[in-house]
Amino acid sequence: MAASESQAPVRDLIIRNALVWGAGAPRDLAISAGRYVELGQTGATAATEIDAAGRLCIPGFIEPHIHLDKVLLTESVPVNRSGSLGEAIDILGARKATYTVEDIAERASRIVTSAVTNGVTHLRTHIDVDSGCGLTPLDALLEVRARFAEVIDIQIVAFPQLGIVKDPGTAALLEQALARGADVIGGMPFNEAGPAQSAEHIQIVFDIARARDVDVDMHIDESDDPNARTLEMLCAATLANGWQGRVTAGHTCALAAYDQGYADHVMDLVAQADIHMITNPATNLMLQGRDDDHPKRRGVTRVKELVARGINVSFGQDNLRDMFYPFGRDDPLELALLIAHAAHMSQPDEIDTVFAMATINGARVLSLPDYGTDPGCAGDLVILDAQTAAEAITGRCDRNYVIKSGQVVAQTETRTTHELPG
Ligand code: FE2
Repeated sequence: MAASESQAPVRDLIIRNALVWGAGAPRDLAISAGRYVELGQTGATAATEIDAAGRLCIPGFIEPHIHLDKVLLTESVPVNRSGSLGEAIDILGARKATYTVEDIAERASRIVTSAVTNGVTHLRTHIDVDSGCGLTPLDALLEVRARFAEVIDIQIVAFPQLGIVKDPGTAALLEQALARGADVIGGMPFNEAGPAQSAEHIQIVFDIARARDVDVDMHIDESDDPNARTLEMLCAATLANGWQGRVTAGHTCALAAYDQGYADHVMDLVAQADIHMITNPATNLMLQGRDDDHPKRRGVTRVKELVARGINVSFGQDNLRDMFYPFGRDDPLELALLIAHAAHMSQPDEIDTVFAMATINGARVLSLPDYGTDPGCAGDLVILDAQTAAEAITGRCDRNYVIKSGQVVAQTETRTTHELPG
């Protein structure tokens, strides 16, 4: 045996005593060349070692639905006095006239930094594509994606918020956006003149998706109106185009407003079409139900019924300190606490499901092939200052280490001192 083969292996990074969520007792993990590798024989060492000390570890939180072109706009727009989605879109329309690449990139960068320190390793952002703003938001996010490439993976969705049929030229802009670097095609079919135009909107999106072989991620029925029925149209189009597993529906607030019979029918179709569902509890708790008399609806889709059908459900921040929603710091644990309340998820297994929504379920939405801590997976890890998912959510605990491709990209020290009686 050659001398080099008898020596203990040297890895780039070893994490000792990592309590990987869902994987049993604490163990040691090793990363080399940006990917997990077998630890190797006893005595393996690394250039850098971190002791997780039995703390909970995940391969990163996933943010599957945020609008980075709009974040932090509260600093430069009038107040949304009605608090409605409609007034928010009107205010946004005026602000877009002043958009520059630098303006958008500066705001987005501040929130990407926040997301990274909160343990987000992969993020999907929708960016507006329409006749008003053109591709300026795309150009800004392409810049941001390149700037942060070593610390977070960013997917970009070309999002026709103002409709496609009623905003001429948008279909061509969507194609240009994908040609220039957007990853996914979005949609907003309920924002059309009527059901026929909504169906046409969906058809245009699928025609482009097929031509460019990209996934689809649409805003669907963000309304309390039980007559908002584009989710059923999306299911039909997904099946007709053979796009099962490649389509995501965000918001789907109207699903919560349907009568039970129609809701059951649509949820069965969602399962059949293998559509990923994303709920956005922060924004929709704030925007929906405002016109109701008491009791007021919550505006949050039927999370537990979807989960019970085996449908993949995740959640996202959506809007953040803009005319749609005045709070937020893109913290998946903050959103987990919100959705646990909004969807009545209180039992231990339900709390674990909420945690899965922020991690493995989100990874499925983003079609990540190498999410995990098995050998060969991307070398990403977040060490949480908690032992369980419930503890992490309860305390919105510190993210002590955020590791991307084997490099520590953010650290937060937990220091508590007190002189209280024990
Ligand atoms: Fe959204």
